[in-house]
Amino acid sequence: MVDPTEPVVQADPAVIAGLDYWRELPIKQQPEWSDPEAVAAASAEIAGLPPLVFAGEIDILRDRLARAARGESFLLQGGDCAETFAGATAEQIRNRVKTILQMAVVLTYGASMPIVKMGRMAGQFAKPRSSDFETRGDVTLPAYRGDIVNGYDFTPESRQADPKRLVQGYHTAASTLNLIRAFTQGGFADLRQVHSWNKGFAQNPANQRYEGLAKEIDRAVRFMEAAGADFDELKRVEFYTSHEGLLMDYERPMTRIDSRNGTPVNTSAHFLWVGERTRDLDGAHIDYFSRIRNPIGIKLGPTTDVATMERLIDKLDPEREPGRLTFITRMGAGRIRDALPPLLEAIRKMEATPLWVTDPMHGNGITTPTGYKTRRFDDVVDEVRGFFEAHRAAGTHPGGIHVELTGDDVTECLGGSEMIDEATLATKYESLCDPRLNHMQSLELAFLVAEELSAR
Ligand code: PEP
Ligand code: CO
Repeated sequence: MVDPTEPVVQADPAVIAGLDYWRELPIKQQPEWSDPEAVAAASAEIAGLPPLVFAGEIDILRDRLARAARGESFLLQGGDCAETFAGATAEQIRNRVKTILQMAVVLTYGASMPIVKMGRMAGQFAKPRSSDFETRGDVTLPAYRGDIVNGYDFTPESRQADPKRLVQGYHTAASTLNLIRAFTQGGFADLRQVHSWNKGFAQNPANQRYEGLAKEIDRAVRFMEAAGADFDELKRVEFYTSHEGLLMDYERPMTRIDSRNGTPVNTSAHFLWVGERTRDLDGAHIDYFSRIRNPIGIKLGPTTDVATMERLIDKLDPEREPGRLTFITRMGAGRIRDALPPLLEAIRKMEATPLWVTDPMHGNGITTPTGYKTRRFDDVVDEVRGFFEAHRAAGTHPGGIHVELTGDDVTECLGGSEMIDEATLATKYESLCDPRLNHMQSLELAFLVAEELSAR
């Protein structure tokens, strides 16, 4: 067994220089640190800490995503908009993992295909903002950029970017990942536990429907066991981590050289994506991401044109390697049926086979008259339907779904069969950033996607 932390191949100085080339380029959405020396010290400390994920795991994920791009499996990616340090509790992590496992079971059963499970977890701490400042009354302070940068409290001290948070981000990611690994490898994710993942959640129509499905799965598993099948594979699940690769003072020191072949790998997560606001073709983020080996995602909003998409492919996936590049479309329910088809038509004429994933959240934000950022569940559903329709018409593969969700009973998105309305939003609105689907809305969405998948 090769020890993945043992250097075998020495880093090529030209490769290292390339990894720092982003520093020469225009960069967006980075904090104003007031003490550059403290930032350098924090980055150096992180660079000396162990990798959170291994290159070998990343290679397996690339293979899994290549299969999804070919239409042989489907990616389920979900979690908070912004994880918080205070929210990294056993209970909240468990509820999110359980919700993703439940959704995955619904999808596997409905679509009869493998589901790649991935959390927006263990590192989703940095946020791009539409404005650098926030004003309340006559006070203006720096915007909240996520717990890895500054605090949410609206005071000058808390909003000051604090480099100690970079190191705290690493440790919080490590303890979150440790729990995820324990849950998914230690028996909790065993398919024979399919009923227990539903325990502890309030009874509602979606989890009653889930109970029915769990009974069928149970019966099938018992039958197969009685027939002598070996169920070792059902005891553990592969669960991958992901976050937006935004904050370069964290991402760069988490980048290591794969001891087997000298390639750079970002070891902060298996999969990273570049957001809609930082994917400039000639900017720092795209340059850095072109140099690491992880599978990467790029968010594509409704104004993306074919030429931009082609240049992104040339830059990020010049070898056209299956599984390398994922396009996460977030067009909005009202735009997807116009904005996605031209991209799909163009891709059919190119050699590239990116994985296409729908993010039905970020194009559907609204603000209520009472000031809550929210989304309508119906718009989320409509964008998912539009995504499947566009792929069906183009003959391309709808390969996955990317959602902001929590396992908790929050009231952040409007609608769903519990009919959360504007007055209800205030009762349990906990997100510090974008509104998330609650447990029940997440399950409802999974049933809907399962229907779309089985109708392919
Ligand atoms: C996000 O995924 O939380 C996000 C900010 O997305 P986007 O870059 O698509 O706006
Ligand atoms: Co968000």
